Amino acid sequence: MRKLSYVVACSLDGFIGDERGDASAMYRYLDEEFTAFLAAELPETLPTHVREALGVDHLENQRFDTVVQGRASYELALREGITSPYGHLREYVASRGLGASPHPNVEIIADDLVGRVRALKAEEGGLGIFLCGGSQVAGALLDEIDELVVKSYPLVYGKGMPMFGTGLDLKEFSLESVRTFGNGALVRTYGRER
Ligand SMILES: NC(=O)c1ccc[n+]([C@@H]2O[C@H](COP(=O)([O-])OP(=O)(O)OC[C@H]3O[C@@H](n4cnc5c(N)ncnc54)[C@H](OP(=O)(O)O)[C@@H]3O)[C@@H](O)[C@H]2O)c1
Repeated sequence: MRKLSYVVACSLDGFIGDERGDASAMYRYLDEEFTAFLAAELPETLPTHVREALGVDHLENQRFDTVVQGRASYELALREGITSPYGHLREYVASRGLGASPHPNVEIIADDLVGRVRALKAEEGGLGIFLCGGSQVAGALLDEIDELVVKSYPLVYGKGMPMFGTGLDLKEFSLESVRTFGNGALVRTYGRER
């Protein structure tokens, strides 16, 4: 069974961005130490153009070979003219309204998102599945998440977009590791308690 891992950046109060999802206030924590960590430990979660800028675009995928994201998150790349933001992975975009895919590497999931993700998880062999977000799609897939990698930054939003756009839905996770960084960022990895 392949794991579905939600790798997400969030504030101390659990928001992935402001109320519209804008996460740019967190970019200030992407300093040399933290960026080196991402390049070394989570390179597949970096968009292809960022991998190129960091000189890690030649790396073989080790942890993930597939990404799932919502249309609103994908649209951030589309607005920059990038139609395949994670070209080093198989890309799936959840959207009922986008219609045809704008890039051959990107498959649109319009129906039965949970069923499609279950089928991806059940594929033989291969690497894990990176759930990129955003909030709505993470909420829809909460029950399927096997691992949470929370990059939390020492910043309070007060109000914002929650990590999971869902109603009350208690799920237990167990802490597997914690990494600390000089700028106050923490990366906590949790496994799912089933
Ligand atoms: N901090 C972080 O690490 C992080 C990571 C990722 C994203 N973000 C932020 O999150 C924001 C976007 O989050 P969001 O919650 O607004 O949107 P989202 O989850 O990225 O995308 C929502 C869209 O996905 C589609 N969708 C949702 N559920 C579906 C289902 N069951 N079946 C098929 N399609 C489905 C719909 O697209 P259609 O309307 O086309 O049908 C929906 O409008 C962005 O602003 C981004 O900055 C932050």
